[in-house]
Amino acid sequence: MIPFVFPSEFFDPLAALGLLATAALASVILWGIRNVYYHPLSRYPGPKLWAAYRIPYVVRNIQGVLPFKVLELHKRYGPVVRIAPDELAYTDPEGWSDIYGLQPGRIQNAKDKYAYSPLEPGWDSNIIFANDAMHARLRRIYGPAFTPKAVEEQSGMLIKYADLLVTQLKNAIKRNPVQDMSAWYNFTTFDLTGDFAFGEAFHCLDRGGQYHFFVKTIFDGVSTGLRMMQLEHYYLLTLLKPLLPKSAMKPKLDMDKYTKELVDRRIERGYVPNTVDVFNYLLQNKNPADQLTAPELYENALTLVVAGSETTATLLTGTTWFLCKNPDVLRRVQQEVRAAFKHDADITPKAVNDMEYMLAVLSEAMRVYPPTGFGIPRLISSEGGQMVAGGHVPEKTRCAIFHHAAYRYEPNFARPDEFIPERWLPDAPPEFMNDKRDVLQPFMVGPRGCLGKSLAYAEMRLLLAKIIWHFDFELADAEEDWYSGLKAFMVWERGSLKVRLTPVKR
Ligand code: HEM
Repeated sequence: MIPFVFPSEFFDPLAALGLLATAALASVILWGIRNVYYHPLSRYPGPKLWAAYRIPYVVRNIQGVLPFKVLELHKRYGPVVRIAPDELAYTDPEGWSDIYGLQPGRIQNAKDKYAYSPLEPGWDSNIIFANDAMHARLRRIYGPAFTPKAVEEQSGMLIKYADLLVTQLKNAIKRNPVQDMSAWYNFTTFDLTGDFAFGEAFHCLDRGGQYHFFVKTIFDGVSTGLRMMQLEHYYLLTLLKPLLPKSAMKPKLDMDKYTKELVDRRIERGYVPNTVDVFNYLLQNKNPADQLTAPELYENALTLVVAGSETTATLLTGTTWFLCKNPDVLRRVQQEVRAAFKHDADITPKAVNDMEYMLAVLSEAMRVYPPTGFGIPRLISSEGGQMVAGGHVPEKTRCAIFHHAAYRYEPNFARPDEFIPERWLPDAPPEFMNDKRDVLQPFMVGPRGCLGKSLAYAEMRLLLAKIIWHFDFELADAEEDWYSGLKAFMVWERGSLKVRLTPVKR
């Protein structure tokens, strides 16, 4: 056979490459045009570039400014905005139950796995990521540790850590009256949640306010994960993963190794009388179908710590900042808390539930600084799509409510950028009568909403009441702008909050 030889004078490799590149560029442009003008979501408003490609979304997310940008887009385009070729963002309260809730006649909308950090082996037994059947099983098994009755039983544990915070903070301010409250709230919530999830604290507080290596590792591990999750949106970018230095993944590996050690230690101790950690609740369940394997326990114990500590510490840090910036609000909440309790021992999780103004302060803090400012999307899963906030949305569309954007959107709240707890009081001033209070859902709604909501409320109310009762506080540097330095990923990346504390004399 005579071999076919391409005559070299007809083949110019550079021209071929150019042709290929032009064809690729043309298809990318055509793809973008198709997304903007001939896509089932074309009728939804939004910037054309965002509708054409996901790139602007990914870039803003990597920069940590996506929720701020989404708010800007809502202000420009209205309550529904197309923020990526296949994603819509909403600000309407109805959106919560339409997107995240369970409604008759349709199936639950699936979690969008691309919204989470790259999933590692074992993710399918993690309560956050598990499929609906596994998730329902885990909710049933973990549920008893989170009921209002269980939270009442956990009062002693909450008081123990709140008191430890006060004692150690009083010791610390003898050395230096200026303290980083962001760190102190971290020490407290990590110790408390560690005790709750693993049966042992990380001893950040009783070592005088020092990060345990595991807590640091969690921060590094989580922030690596948050950045890496953006790679997942583009298949081509995932090819870059092997190029990442090994050191980038080290915090994650350390975190997994230590989690395993902690869980193994706790499994070995078995049922421990008079203890209210999660394991004791799990061990009371004798149903063979409800016994979790060791890998399932590893997977979920760490999730409890991450979900439960960072969020609560974030909220308390934000509350402290907004109180310092609003002296009238601070004075009013001080008066309420200090008049209500004669002795420190009177401040209990039950008693603080009556602090009407303090609860309004916390609601307002969750509005202006929701611990997850991000919009965690769901994939519309019903065949043929469904209605969301009054409009039809095709199947497989990603839909989200960005907490930050929905809570700062003027049609939802009057004077949205101001910190005004009075709007949450039963006798709110008339200008706030039209506030759409039900849009505030920092714990999300539906079957996959926060499992720790009651515990979180008890914890943050108690900690805030103790801090207000024991200390006067103000920003160490009145000029400091802690808020504008924040970066918003799935959770906030927050810097230290330097506060000058003085013990209240009685
Ligand atoms: C201010 C405090 C808190 C806020 C704002 C908050 C918020 C949230 C949100 C928005 C979710 C849904 C995440 C998603 O859809 O991927 C969630 C889930 C979860 N949270 Fe919280 N959380 C808080 C405190 C806690 C605490 C104290 C615990 C327990 C110690 C906890 C345990 C969980 C768990 C286990 C889930 C997963 C629930 C599931 O998928 O079924 N959270 N939380």
